[in-house]
Amino acid sequence: MKHLIDPTDLTKSEIDEIISLAQDIIAHRERYQGSMSHKKLATLFYEPSTRTRLSFTSAMMELGGNVLGFSDARSSSVSKGESVQDTVRVVGCFADVIAMRHHIEGAQLYATEVSTVPIINAGDGSHSHPTQTLTDLLTIQRELGHIDGITIGFCGDLRFGRTVHSLIKALSRYKDIKVILIAPDELKLPDYIKQDVCERTGIPYREVTTMEEVMGELDVLYMTRVQKERFLDEDEFDRVKDSFVLDDARMALAKEKMAVLHPLPRVNEILTEVDADPRAAYFRQVENGKFVREALIVKLLEWKDDPEHGMPTDETPVEDPELRCPNKKCICNNEHAPHRFRRTENGVLRCWYCDSKVR
Ligand code: NCD
Repeated sequence: MKHLIDPTDLTKSEIDEIISLAQDIIAHRERYQGSMSHKKLATLFYEPSTRTRLSFTSAMMELGGNVLGFSDARSSSVSKGESVQDTVRVVGCFADVIAMRHHIEGAQLYATEVSTVPIINAGDGSHSHPTQTLTDLLTIQRELGHIDGITIGFCGDLRFGRTVHSLIKALSRYKDIKVILIAPDELKLPDYIKQDVCERTGIPYREVTTMEEVMGELDVLYMTRVQKERFLDEDEFDRVKDSFVLDDARMALAKEKMAVLHPLPRVNEILTEVDADPRAAYFRQVENGKFVREALIVKLLEWKDDPEHGMPTDETPVEDPELRCPNKKCICNNEHAPHRFRRTENGVLRCWYCDSKVR
């Protein structure tokens, strides 16, 4: 069975299939209406969301399917202390596919270990957000006509921004990508993405501290919100919250053909004066999210019983009773998930569920 927990769960050809199905849905919406009638999607949202949850709901409704679930875990049995694994076992009796968002990192991966239906990770803490990534890829493809060969600048909160982590992982499947990281010291991209993704797959990246010095090089500018809810120290948040702001003056430095993406919600990082610029693609990006989620639901249900489309099996977890994941927000420090690890090519041990460095 195929789940989507991390962007690398999809092969390049599976990503291509989803993107081209989404484009076909856009071109021939009537052909797909009703194709999921009698199918049910459960949306289990343990963390606030507007866009992602409504996008899944709207996608399933467009396909003629039904949606059930919760948007506030306090209204579910979770408030009685039910584990994530028990919840998905139960929900798998009612729904054909589950989309889950959780503040605990690795929760969805842990849930797949017992699930009888495909699980889609709709965001786990600051770790991963693969359906936003599919949205971003479809948007880049539609805005620029290609993904290979782009220079993309990620700007803002690269430390906690899970959409950034996931998109860089997915871009490692494409050719000739160049990454420019625009962030203050406090919000730099985690080492595991730099080392295990960029360096291992040969994506050149460079770190800069101002937007002005790179605007003219970019094909895509990926803006992000500073993730207030993930800071443990409020003063630190106050220091960095308005680090980078995109305005018309900065847009004037950019190429004529360029796309500004933002997963939204925005706070102060893009002034509304930019919205009228034809390069501002972030509201079109929202709509692409619905089409790509339609395509994903169709494909996961099509692939469910197809042995050709399983989960990647090239890694076996390392178990060592002496070692613990250091991340307090990881599933293995919050539920009875085992402390398991994977050894990367450079010999570092990382948590199986959240990628934190263990040794
Ligand atoms: C993002 C998220 O939830 O990670 N939003 C989204 O899914 N569209 C980005 C954010 O919250 O800043």
